[in-house]
Amino acid sequence: MSFGGGTVSGGAFGRTGGSRAAAAPGGGLPFAGIPSELQAGVDQLLAEEPDHGEPTARFNHRGDDDATARLTLRGLIFRHWRLGAAAALLVTIGSITSQAGPELIKIGIDHGMSRNQGLGVILLLAGVFLAAIAVTALAQRAQAKVTGRLAARVMNDLRVSVFTHLQRLGLDFYTDEKSGVIMTRMTSDIENLQTLLQDGLAQLAVQALTMVVITVVLFTTDVKLTLITLALVVPALTLASLWFRAASERGYDRVRDGIANVLGDLSESLHGVRTVAANNRQRYNIIQHRNVVGDYRAANNYTAQINAIYGPGTQLLGYLGQGALLAIGGNMVLHHELSVGALIAFFLYLNRFFAPIQLLVAQYNTFQQGQASLVKLRTLFATRPSTPEATAASELPPIQGEIVFDHVTFGYDPAVPVIRDVDLRIRTGETVAFVGQTGAGKSTMAKLITRFYDPTEGRILIDGHDLREVTLHSLRRQLGVVPQEPFLFAGSLRYNIAFACPDATDEEVREAVRAVGLADVVQRMPDGLDTVVHERGQSLSSGERQLIALARAFLAHPRVLVLDEATSNLDLLSETKIEAALDILLEARTAVLIAHRLTTAMKADRIVVVADGRVVEIGSHDQLLARGGRYAEMYATWIRGTESAAA
Ligand SMILES: Nc1ncnc2c1ncn2[C@@H]1O[C@H](COP(=O)(O)OP(=O)(O)OP(=O)(O)O)[C@@H](O)[C@H]1O
Ligand SMILES: [Mg+2]
Repeated sequence: MSFGGGTVSGGAFGRTGGSRAAAAPGGGLPFAGIPSELQAGVDQLLAEEPDHGEPTARFNHRGDDDATARLTLRGLIFRHWRLGAAAALLVTIGSITSQAGPELIKIGIDHGMSRNQGLGVILLLAGVFLAAIAVTALAQRAQAKVTGRLAARVMNDLRVSVFTHLQRLGLDFYTDEKSGVIMTRMTSDIENLQTLLQDGLAQLAVQALTMVVITVVLFTTDVKLTLITLALVVPALTLASLWFRAASERGYDRVRDGIANVLGDLSESLHGVRTVAANNRQRYNIIQHRNVVGDYRAANNYTAQINAIYGPGTQLLGYLGQGALLAIGGNMVLHHELSVGALIAFFLYLNRFFAPIQLLVAQYNTFQQGQASLVKLRTLFATRPSTPEATAASELPPIQGEIVFDHVTFGYDPAVPVIRDVDLRIRTGETVAFVGQTGAGKSTMAKLITRFYDPTEGRILIDGHDLREVTLHSLRRQLGVVPQEPFLFAGSLRYNIAFACPDATDEEVREAVRAVGLADVVQRMPDGLDTVVHERGQSLSSGERQLIALARAFLAHPRVLVLDEATSNLDLLSETKIEAALDILLEARTAVLIAHRLTTAMKADRIVVVADGRVVEIGSHDQLLARGGRYAEMYATWIRGTESAAA
C-alpha cells in the first residue's frame, strides 16, 4: 500500500525529520560517544526520566464528533478538572490573602496608633501581614506549577488530536488550504492557547477576583462612601470596557489572519525556492512578502492603539475617582463620619482596584487570542473528511480485483464535471491502459479508484462492493498506487521503500529493489539502502524517485495496482529493464496503467481512450487500430514522430 506517497502535496508535512537526516551516519564525523565527564549527568537525567511505556496511537477514519464539542475553554479544562479545580482554589486563596495589607494598615492606624494601645497591636499586625504575604507567595507558586502542568497537558492532547484529524481529512482540504495556514493551527494557534492556559486565565481570574474582594472590603468599611465612589467610576469604566472588548475582538481577528498569511506566504516560497530562483522572482517575492508582513504589522498597530487608549484611559478614571474620594471622604472625616485609617484604606484599595485593570488589558489580549485560536481550531475539527467512512462500513474481504465504474460522474467542483458518465468494467487480472490528452481526466479516474474522492453521481465497485461501503483501511491495504509525482520522506531509502510495510524484512526490501531494477542505483549510493533521502526526495532524480515508488508498491503485494505515468521519467534503457519487472508485478493482478507513451499502453490487455472526461474508445491495441478512431490517429502521429526522429 503506497497511497500516501506523493499525494499529500501540502509539502509542509515532509519538513519534519530534517534533523534525523543531519544526525544520520555518513553525514559528518562519526559519533564518538558521550564524553566521560558528561556521562554522570546523562545517567542522572535518564534515571529521572519517567517510563513512558510503548507509544500507542489510535486512528480511525470516522473521527470523534465530541472532539469539536469539547473544544471550548471550559471543555479543555474540564478534561483535567482536578488540575483546574486546584488552580481555582489557589487563585482564590492568593487573591484574598494578597488584599490583607490595607485592611491591616487601617486597623493599625485606628487601633494601634491613635489610641496608643502600644506596640503589641502593631507587632501582631505586622506578623499577620507577613503570614499573609507568605501564604500569597506559596499559593502563587503552587498555582503557577498547576497551571503550567494543565497547559502542557491540554496542549499535548490538542496537538495530537489536531494531527490525527489532519491525517483523516480528504485531499480537497489540502488543495484548498495553504499548507502554511495549516501550520499556523499547529504553531501560533496552539501556542496562544498554551499562553492562555498557563498564565492568562489564572491571571485574569486573579485580577477579576481581586476587584470583587476589594469591592466587598470597601462595602464592609463604609457603605455610603463605597456607593458614591462606585457610582462615579463604574459606569464610565463599563462603557470603556465594552468598547474595548468589541474593538480588540476585531483587532485580534485581523492579527490571526495576518500571521496565517505571513506563514502561508513563507512556506509557499520555501517550497518553491528553486522555481523562484530559476525565474528571477526574488524581488517580486520580497515585495509580496513585505505586503503580507505589512498587513500583519497594521493589524498589530491597530490592537496596540486600542490598548493605548483603554489602558491610560482607565488609569485616568482611577485618578479622577481618587480625587473625588479625597474630597468626599475628607469631608466625611471632618464630620467624624469616617476614621482616618478607613480613608487611607479606601485610598489604597481604590488604587489596587485600578491597578488590575492595566493587567487585565494585557491578560484580556491573551484571552482574545486564545479564544480566536480556539475558534480556528474548532473550525478545523468541524471540517469533515470528504470521503467519510460509513458508520456501517464493512471490511473489504480479500479481493479478486474486478473494478467497475457504474455511470460515474465527478467534478472537483461538483458543478464542473471532470469525469462524465463513465461506465467501465475492468476484469479481474486484467491490465488496462488509460490514454488520452493532458487534462482528459485519467489521473482523476485513478484517484476515484483509490477513493481519494467520491463520485458526484454513480458508483465505483470493487468485486461488487461499493467503495463507500467498505472501510478505507481495508480498501487501501489492497491497492497499490504509484502516483504521477511520487513523494519521498526524509529518511533512509529502506524506510521509503518499506513505507507501506514497515515490518518488511531486509530480504523483502532487497527483492523489491531488484525487481524494479533499482539495484544499480542503490549500489551507487554511498550507504546503500541506508542512504538518507532528503526531504521530498530532493537529492534524487525524478526517475529514481519513480523507481523507489515502484519498489514501494511491489513490496506491498497489492491486489490492484494503479500506476500513474509510473515510468514517464525513465530513460528508454531503464524502461525496458523495468518492463520485465512490470510483467512480474502485473501478473495475476488487476492493473490500471496511465500512459503517455504508447509503447507502455500497447502492452495492456485493453486500452481505454479518455477524452474530456469520457471514455471514447475501448479495445486491444489491434482492435483500436483496426477501428481507425482516435487511438489509431494517436498511434499514427506517434509512428510518424519516431520515424522522422530515426531519419
Ligand atoms: N485537485 C483538483 N482540483 C480541481 N481541479 C482539478 C484538480 N486536479 C485536476 N483538476 C482538473 O481536472 C481535469 C483532469 O485532470 P487529470 O489530472 O485527471 O488529468 P490527466 O488526464 O491525468 O492529465 P495528465 O495527462 O496531464 O496527467 C483537469 O482539467 C484539471 O485541471
Ligand atoms: Mg495525470
